[in-house]
Parts: sequence; structure tokens; C-alpha cells
Amino acid sequence: MNFKNVPGHIAVIMDGNGRWAKKRNLHRIQGHIEGIKSLKSIIKAVMAYNIKYLTVYAFSSENWQRPQDEVDSLMDLLYEYINSELPYLVKNKIRLNFIGNISKIPEHSRKSLQNAADKTGKFGRLNLTLALSYGAREEILNAASQIAKDFKNNKINIEDLDEDMFSSYLYTSGMPEPDLLIRTSGEERLSNFMLYQAAYTEVYFTKTLWPDFRKKNLDAALKNYEKRIRRFGKT
Ligand code: FPP
Repeated sequence: MNFKNVPGHIAVIMDGNGRWAKKRNLHRIQGHIEGIKSLKSIIKAVMAYNIKYLTVYAFSSENWQRPQDEVDSLMDLLYEYINSELPYLVKNKIRLNFIGNISKIPEHSRKSLQNAADKTGKFGRLNLTLALSYGAREEILNAASQIAKDFKNNKINIEDLDEDMFSSYLYTSGMPEPDLLIRTSGEERLSNFMLYQAAYTEVYFTKTLWPDFRKKNLDAALKNYEKRIRRFGKT
């Protein structure tokens, strides 16, 4: 499909895996497994449109409160995903990055994430960012606390603190803000995702459950985005 303009950065809240599985009498984890297929298909599609940034909410800071077997399965899936996809990422020059409170992720998964980030650090055909153990309020608090420390240690002048400097303390430092945020499954809220970065982001909600979300659904979101007039608070 051809679009007049495509977003430079798409962020996605991949929601509805559990409901997708329930509808089929499957275990919730089957929904997450199918959700990985959607992720792969969307990665391929955004590359074809020359979109440079894709950030996906894979695990929120609140998701730790899910039943332990689901948390463990998600962590296992993450580990398997990173290890099995690394050759694809390298072949396609995709840079893998992650944002969130990574210290809470089990060590073997953290190591494989770090390894994948190191091995793909020089690429940039697509910047794929996984939000893991991520919560926007925690991110903003963490930035405020780092700024206070740097001020105390005379590393920064408080007069220099502006939006650009503040942004550089967020997990997303150096990344452009999302132009389009997609949330699947019919829920219409941000759920603590990129609250600072999404100030002027166009938001697109769809009832499609994440495991059903494939290229044609992305095309519908892009078609919708194309029509939007972005004013950034101006007239
Ligand atoms: C929301 O569905 C989805 C998640 C909490 C996890 C998203 C994870 C994936 C798509 C697969 C794992 C990704 C990687 C990179 C390993 P839900 O479980 O909240 O669904 P529900 O609202 O229908 O219960």
C-alpha cells in the first residue's frame, strides 16, 4: 500500500493475547505465542514502509503481579524470542534496544537482551525497542531522581533544565517521540505507557486482538494516520 506520509516512530500496546486464547479455549500463553507471530509480521511490514522506529510494550511494571506461571512463561518466551530472532535482526540490520526497569528481568534473559543489543548496536534500518518491566511513572520518577543527583554533584545547572534535557534522562533518551500509538483489543487507555513521550502522539485504537493484528490491520492504522492533521498545540 502507498501512503502520503507514514509515522517515523510507531509505538504499540500489544493487548488482547489472553482474550484471544480464552475465545479458543487455549491457555493464555498460547495467546502470547501467537502474539509473537504478530510482532514478527509487523516488524516486517514497518521495514517495508521504511519506518525507522518501532517500540512495543511487551511487559509492564504491573505485569509482575500476574500469576507466577504466566510471568515465568512470558520471561521464557522473551528469552526464546531474543535467541531465535538474533540472526534475523542482524541479517536485516535491525537494532534491538530495550527500555524499562531491566534489573527485575531474570539474569539469563537480561544477558541475552544485552548481548542482542550489543550485537545490533551499529544497525539502524529499524530501531526495535522492547518495553520490558516498563512503567512511565517509574521512568519519570527515575529521571527526576537522576537529575537531583546530578544537580547535587554539580554536574548540571538547574537553569539549563528544559524539555530536551529532561528527555535525555528518560529511558528513551536519543529516540524520537512516537508519532503514532496503536492499542489493540478495544481498550482505550495508555496504561502507563510513554506518558511523557506521547504528549503529541496520534492515538489509534482498534478492537482487533493483538494475535489477530497483521499487516492489513497495520495498513488500516496507517491509512487513518495519513488523514490526521498534526498541530502540536498550534493553530
Ligand atoms: C497483553 O495481553 C500482552 C502482554 C502482557 C504481553 C505482550 C507480549 C507479547 C505479544 C509476546 C511476548 C513478546 C516478547 C517480545 C517476548 P493480555 O495478556 O493482557 O491480554 P488480555 O487483556 O486479553 O488478558
